[in-house]
Amino acid sequence: MPSVLFVCLGNICRSPMAEGIARQRAADKGVSARFDSAGTIGHHAGERADPRTRAVLERHGIPYDGRSRKLTADDFEQFDLILAMDRSNLADMTAICPADHRHKLRLVLEPTGGGEVPDPYYGGPDGFDAGYRMLLAAIDRWLDGLRGA
Ligand code: 4NP
Repeated sequence: MPSVLFVCLGNICRSPMAEGIARQRAADKGVSARFDSAGTIGHHAGERADPRTRAVLERHGIPYDGRSRKLTADDFEQFDLILAMDRSNLADMTAICPADHRHKLRLVLEPTGGGEVPDPYYGGPDGFDAGYRMLLAAIDRWLDGLRGA
């Protein structure tokens, strides 16, 4: 079964949202895959997702009860695809990823043009809604790719 890890900075805003969306959309589409998320910093480790992320997911009927955790060296071994929210996350991951796993590291928005999911942490709720829309479109495309995997 393919496995996908979503990565952002704190693992409380964008990557938990991506994980929740992916799990629900995969179930809707009949795609079998394992999903998780992590942050490049451990600052929020053990915390629930940001209330604004939880509110967006709840509004879309997506359950999420994950806790923040920091990206580990083991993740590069364990996951087939490791998707960064922005170029800064991608650079941070690349810096600690063994060369033979670097092909797994990609930007999550690559299938919809390769831009970035902006960090919504210091902004208002609009940033979370915008992130949801970007992630939904891109994740649907990734899942279509995984369907045949
Ligand atoms: P995330 O957002 O990377 O989407 O989870 C952030 C969460 C926390 C912080 C920054 C971004 N922080 O600086 O604590």
